[in-house]
Amino acid sequence: MNTDTIQDHHERALIIDFGSQVTQLIARRLRESGVFCEIHPFNRVDAAFLKDYGPKAVILSGSPASANTETSPRAAQEIFDLGVPILGICYGEQTICAQLGGDVEASDHKEFGRAQVEVIKESPLFNGVWEVGGEYQVWMSHGDRVNAIPDGFEVIAKSGGAPFAAIANEAQNIYAVQFHPEVVHTPDGAKLLRNFTHNIAGLSGDWTMAAFRDEAVAKIREQVGDARVICGLSGGVDSSVAAVLIHEAIGDQLTCVFVDTGLMRADEGEEVVRLFRDSYNIPLIHVEAEDLFLGKLAGVDDPEKKRKIIGATFIDIFDAEAGKIENAAFLAQGTLYPDVIESVSFDGGPSVTIKSHHNVGGLPERMNLKLVEPLRELFKDEVRALGQELGLPEHFVGRHPFPGPGLAIRIPGEVTKEKADILRKADTIYLDEIKKAGLYDVIWQAFAVLLPVRTVGVMGDERTYDHVLALRAVTSTDGMTADYYPFSHEFLGACATRIINQVRGVNRVVYDVTSKPPGTIEWE
Ligand code: XMP
Repeated sequence: MNTDTIQDHHERALIIDFGSQVTQLIARRLRESGVFCEIHPFNRVDAAFLKDYGPKAVILSGSPASANTETSPRAAQEIFDLGVPILGICYGEQTICAQLGGDVEASDHKEFGRAQVEVIKESPLFNGVWEVGGEYQVWMSHGDRVNAIPDGFEVIAKSGGAPFAAIANEAQNIYAVQFHPEVVHTPDGAKLLRNFTHNIAGLSGDWTMAAFRDEAVAKIREQVGDARVICGLSGGVDSSVAAVLIHEAIGDQLTCVFVDTGLMRADEGEEVVRLFRDSYNIPLIHVEAEDLFLGKLAGVDDPEKKRKIIGATFIDIFDAEAGKIENAAFLAQGTLYPDVIESVSFDGGPSVTIKSHHNVGGLPERMNLKLVEPLRELFKDEVRALGQELGLPEHFVGRHPFPGPGLAIRIPGEVTKEKADILRKADTIYLDEIKKAGLYDVIWQAFAVLLPVRTVGVMGDERTYDHVLALRAVTSTDGMTADYYPFSHEFLGACATRIINQVRGVNRVVYDVTSKPPGTIEWE
């Protein structure tokens, strides 16, 4: 496995993933305290991998699996011989116990939710955070439980449902907790993880965006040499940050292509063109393709067909434009770390396609291009921090995510220019109200959806028969799960009134109160 990343000379922690829903949060917490780490599936971490990766600390994640069967997933036994500190979380604790001679049993009594642990022994893990005799809130989520701990371990905290809530073998620097320190429902969890990485493993926390920027620039120069790079700008944060970073590295060897599909938010096209051409002086090809996209979408109402048509049309245009750039050898993409992490699937089957996400997949092979993906190691909020570091305007860096297929997937049914124009106006008003209420930054994503349903209304003395508009707003950490945002009734009422008064074509507004799952964030 190739572990040759930008952070080669940084101290790195390793997170071994057993398939927990919240493994990514462990990485988030570590990165927040300045520790570079990567997540790798348990079945890919073997002796050769460990030698290559050289972790300074290892964390074993939770898992939906049971720890006490013949086929239970196990950590490579070699991790226990590395001599680096190890922390097991939930299933991680159970597998440590099972692998080092303790005992784990299945239990009918599942413990899920908030719990109190009582600290019964001083430990470097609790230093400065928890005191002996104190009771502290944690988050538990487990079925199996540890029955006996291995030799050399002692109990450092217990809870009603978990007599081995935290255990330690200080001599060997192995620690394990039954609760989840990575989730916010364990209020002191981040501090405990920091104790593990900084105090126990002695990591200095040298992972900063300024350091990342310098190293990424050097790495891009080395990878690209004097070849030319093309970058598709979507108007979103990721491709923009990637482009500015690459431009810093190789200057005019980079050409950006921005395809205006006619399905962008209001003023988006102009803003991107202004920012790149005028502020950064980055060569930019601006392709106006509204008629082409809307023509191809005419009469199509199936969501997957829409996505495929948009993806294919985008690639055709991009291909044609990029073909005009001499010596283009690389394609830049704003791929992020969550897209790169290989998740562990316990049923072994392929995951179901819920939606075909649109990116420039397919292009590199077709055009014989190599990829430059300078954000592959970053989470979304780190990309935003890098954008700030690179001087991108605050309002641009903080923008809500916007899907590749654009407004087309926010217009269920056939997409027309008239509908896209109505939606753009309504969406602008909705976001304006959110910004005025000071809520834009606490919401992950907010947008309007124009429904293919008309209802009867009355305005003045007139009967109206117009579209229904749905408003959506969610909070999320990564877009994988989401909760609807609990706006006040006053706020929603004010939005509805303003939209209906100002946008011709909409006479009714509804609010979507579906979380993900079971809903998805976008409607199509
Ligand atoms: P869903 O609707 O799947 O969306 O819950 C999760 C996140 O992904 C965004 N999204 C996309 N982004 N191309 C993208 O670049 C796409 O085709 C696409 N579809 C959904 C969505 O806006 C949300 O942030």
